[in-house]
Amino acid sequence: MGYSLSRRQFLASGAALSAATILPTWLTAASSSKRQRVDVIADVEIGTVRPEFHGHFAEHLGSCVYGGLWVGPKSPIPNINGYRKQAVEYLREVGVPVLRWPGGCFADDYHWRDGIGPISQRPKRVNIHWGGYVEDNSFGTHEFIGLCRLLGAEPYLAGNVGSGTPDELRNWIEYCNMPSGSTLAEERAKNGSPEPFRVRYWGVGNENWGCGGWMRPEVYADHYRRFSTYVREFGGTRPFMIASGPNGNDARWTRGFMDGLDGGMPEGFAMHYYEGGADEPTKFTVDHMKEQFARYAKVEEAIQQQRSILDGYRNGRRINLILDEWGVWDRIPEEDEKKYGALWQQSTMRSAVAAGLGLNLFNRQADKLYMCNIAQMVNVLQSLLLTDGPEGKNCVRTTTYHAFALFKAHRSNMAVKTLTEASSPDGLSVSASKRNGELVLSFVNQHADTDLDVDCALHGATGKDASAMLLHSPDLNAYNSFDVPDRIVPKPHPVVVEGARMRLELPRLSVATVKVRTS
Ligand code: AHR
Repeated sequence: MGYSLSRRQFLASGAALSAATILPTWLTAASSSKRQRVDVIADVEIGTVRPEFHGHFAEHLGSCVYGGLWVGPKSPIPNINGYRKQAVEYLREVGVPVLRWPGGCFADDYHWRDGIGPISQRPKRVNIHWGGYVEDNSFGTHEFIGLCRLLGAEPYLAGNVGSGTPDELRNWIEYCNMPSGSTLAEERAKNGSPEPFRVRYWGVGNENWGCGGWMRPEVYADHYRRFSTYVREFGGTRPFMIASGPNGNDARWTRGFMDGLDGGMPEGFAMHYYEGGADEPTKFTVDHMKEQFARYAKVEEAIQQQRSILDGYRNGRRINLILDEWGVWDRIPEEDEKKYGALWQQSTMRSAVAAGLGLNLFNRQADKLYMCNIAQMVNVLQSLLLTDGPEGKNCVRTTTYHAFALFKAHRSNMAVKTLTEASSPDGLSVSASKRNGELVLSFVNQHADTDLDVDCALHGATGKDASAMLLHSPDLNAYNSFDVPDRIVPKPHPVVVEGARMRLELPRLSVATVKVRTS
């Protein structure tokens, strides 16, 4: 959690508003909501909010790829060369800085050559991790790169370590990045892409402590060394290698891997941290919601501790920490999975608050993180979009989509320090960033029963005017359905800024982003 002050420290710090400050009468009037003090220290910089903090993940799982993003060019569902048109349009709007594919667990059983060449000649393979159904490989490397280009996303390919070979990974990199002249580059050209794909991000396996081979960390370190030995730069594209990091905050994995490495450092180290849920997505109790929200403090702690373990190693400081998979993973009803695909999960107002808690903490830990990928983009776990099954024409923006949209204003800004009262960690979550005379503040009220009156002191910046957008429903289980797709959407919200003071009402269960023009 962010640094917090006791009420006494807060008042003594000078952050408290001076009695002489002249305020509009509505601000001084008695309010039924709980007053919550916040400090934004605009001149204490944390680090850049990399757009990659809002990265995505698409796996061959359920209806994420087949029937979700990819419907095929002959589908009656409106599409752009096989990509679901509505999904592409929504995703372009929210912006996808980076997209990881093809897994997940699926990656360590995927052989990239299955997904190139004429579609009719591609082999049909069983997806052994997710339901045992047969895939026709109509979505392969070229289709993935095509999607990234449509979305303006940087591609991130996860290589197969569990059941693959160093040769296979090395050849995939050459196939993608070698401009011309080699047999693999010519094969790519023959398959329709004379221009190299220039893929920078390469994962060396996925969850190799689990579905990626059930390895011990020292064994995985050996595999990492062996696979990375054959990785090369082609045509000026230097691969950024990403090693499989821990499950949650597993220090034993990280130390075991780092001890076993002994040179040959990866550029990235990818931890996975899901925020499990005890109930079905639309039937959460308040207590279980609170339990789930409490996990975000653990995630923040894990980021700090994993960063400090890496920093403890010679050259470890050069390794970038990635939160490769994150998001709420609730108890998914069997009937939803049968109808719409494995791990199809509805996103409610609770999920949006959870997304806000995550995105806020990424801003606060901006100096420690490189990339964070929500799991997953469409139809799986905490997705941004939902479609009604592989044949379904509907495509709905979830509450999580709208939470991401609210945080878009932070991208590429400099994150700055925020302080909350000691009483607030379980209630109000805050982050702030600045750029070009604008402060962007995000607030999340995670209480199910308390509205907050946010009283915010700005230090190192004077507000000229402000505007706010709010995502809110008092019902934690409310969601955007196929019948009512826009039940919960961001709406303009009143905010008042006067010099060094900003006030806004933050209803229970809400996510707000405020933009303050400063002088
Ligand atoms: O996102 C679903 C699964 O969760 C991924 O395949 C795996 O990496 C993780 O355990």
